[in-house]
Amino acid sequence: MKHLLKLLDLSTDEIIDILNLADQLKYEQKHGIPHHHLKGMTLGMIFQKSSTRTRVSFETGMYQLGGQALFLSSRDLQIGRGEPVQDTARVLSRYLSGIMIRTFEQSEVENLAEYGSIPIINGLTDFCHPCQVLADLQTIREYKNKLDGLKFCYIGDGNNMANSLTVGCLKVGMSVSLACPEGYHPDPQILEFAKAYDNFKLVADPKEAAADADVLYTDVWASMGQEGEAEKRKIAFKGYQINDDVMSVAKSDTMVLHCLPAHREEEITAKVFEQHAADIFDEAENRLHAQKAVMVRLMAPEK
Ligand code: CP
Ligand code: NVA
Repeated sequence: MKHLLKLLDLSTDEIIDILNLADQLKYEQKHGIPHHHLKGMTLGMIFQKSSTRTRVSFETGMYQLGGQALFLSSRDLQIGRGEPVQDTARVLSRYLSGIMIRTFEQSEVENLAEYGSIPIINGLTDFCHPCQVLADLQTIREYKNKLDGLKFCYIGDGNNMANSLTVGCLKVGMSVSLACPEGYHPDPQILEFAKAYDNFKLVADPKEAAADADVLYTDVWASMGQEGEAEKRKIAFKGYQINDDVMSVAKSDTMVLHCLPAHREEEITAKVFEQHAADIFDEAENRLHAQKAVMVRLMAPEK
């Protein structure tokens, strides 16, 4: 594995290997066991969109691994004034050990990888959010002690989260049911990938998707960059909510996950969110551990 651009590029074995390393690094961090695998290395973090979790977990993770992280806002970089990503990639490759980028177009991340000579990590694009899904899978495995055979249900927008969750969950042997309104389905590339799996289903009715689910997942109705569509989306997504009615058809011990930030009473009720706050904030914590594993695998593969 040279980069983490999207989960479509990873094999099942590579995903499981990252989850195993994430568990080990979590254990080491909790027990004060040093793990300075990236001593002397620097990660550049380019942000063209806002972030709380991604920024802080990468920066802290890099510190815990003995390296350092540089926060590079696109507002301050020349990239924000039009310097091509191809040139930025070749310059930053001379200074840094790796780059994490959060941006709009997936092609920008792919271009960085093509022109640069250091590992590139996708910290979210409009197409996918692979780091989040690795943390999600780590959390599901912690709670359920397995992944293979579980039923995963996602309710809401067929966005970057739906795209990455579909790929990640199918690759590790889970069955996946999505409930998305017409006009808001996942990316065609994802549907093409999922077609090969008989345990994949895309339906319109949230309760049909949630029946007997082991894990329920949702995300905001309007993602970053779609703020102007928020009102239209509130209408389109009415009813695409994790609430008591949806919970009543899932397994009684179902987990509820959300990548955050959450909009209470839109995609999830405040009641369900608070009942499952333990799952959701364990999930947020695991961003740290899963990303440390990704950085070690990419930047110090010999460890
Ligand atoms: N879930 C997630 O990526 O959060 P941030 O946008 O805060 O980084
Ligand atoms: N779909 C959301 C995820 C945020 C982590 C967005 O892209 O804004």
